Amino acid sequence: MKRRLYIGTNTKMFQTAAEAEAYIRRMDELIGDIRDRLEFFFIPSYTSLERVARAVGGRIRIGAQNMAWEERGQYTGEISPLMLDEIGVRFVLIGHSERRHVFRETDEDEAKKIKCAADHGFTSLLCVGETSEQKESGLAEASVIKQLRAAAGVLSSEEASGKLWVAYEPVWAIGTSGVPASASYAEDMHGVIKAALRDMFGENGSAVPVLYGGSVNPSNAVDIISRKGIDGLFIGRSAWDPERFDSIIRDVLPVFENRQDY
Ligand code: PGA
Repeated sequence: MKRRLYIGTNTKMFQTAAEAEAYIRRMDELIGDIRDRLEFFFIPSYTSLERVARAVGGRIRIGAQNMAWEERGQYTGEISPLMLDEIGVRFVLIGHSERRHVFRETDEDEAKKIKCAADHGFTSLLCVGETSEQKESGLAEASVIKQLRAAAGVLSSEEASGKLWVAYEPVWAIGTSGVPASASYAEDMHGVIKAALRDMFGENGSAVPVLYGGSVNPSNAVDIISRKGIDGLFIGRSAWDPERFDSIIRDVLPVFENRQDY
C-alpha cells in the first residue's frame, strides 16, 4: 500500500473561529477527491476547535496547538487533555518553535506534555529544530537530537508507534523573517532524525512520520517533498489561502507517491 502524504497547517493566532470554520469548510470541499491519499490535519486556535470539529471533524484530523501536562490543577490559562478529549480532539502540537522561543517552554516541559498526551491516547506532533546560532556553530544535528530524545524519550516504542509524529522545523526557517531550508539540507536533517528514531524505538521508530516545516511555499514544496525521508509538510502562511494550499497539495502529491524510498 502506498504511504499517505502527511500535510497540514497550524494557523497560529491568526484566525477567529468564524474564519477557521469558513477556511476548513472550503479545504474540505477542495481536497474531497484526494482525501484518502492524505493524512490531512488542521490545527486552529483553541476557541475554534469545537466549531471546526463539528463542521468537518469526521473527515479531517483536528488538533490543538498546545496542551497542559496535567488533567486538572492550578494552571491558569492552560487547557488539559480532558478538555480536548471532551470535544473530540485527540491530536496535539507539542513544542512548536513559537512555544519554545516566545513562551520559553523547555525540553522538560515538552517531555511532560508528550507523556501526558500518550497517557490519554492522543497523537502528538512534536516539533524540533535548531536556531541559527546552533546551526552556525555546527550544532544543528546535536540540538535536534537532544530535543527529540528529551521529549520523545519518555515514550515506549509501543507508545511511539502510530501516536508520535515529528516535524523538523528549523527556527531560522519559520515565519515572515524565515529563510526556507534548502531541500538537500532538509533531507540531511531528516536522515539524522530518522536514524535517531530508529535508535530510540527500533522498527517502530522507522514508522514515525517526519514532516518538514518552515517557509514551505509554492516554489519550494515539490523539491522538498521529492527528498528521501521527508514524509510530509507542515505549512504555515502558504496554507492559509485554501486555493493556494490545495494547489500545493496537488503539486506535491504525485511526486511524493512516485518516490522510490517507500
Ligand atoms: P511558515 O510556518 O510556513 O509560515 O514558515 C511554519 C510553522 O510555523 O510551522
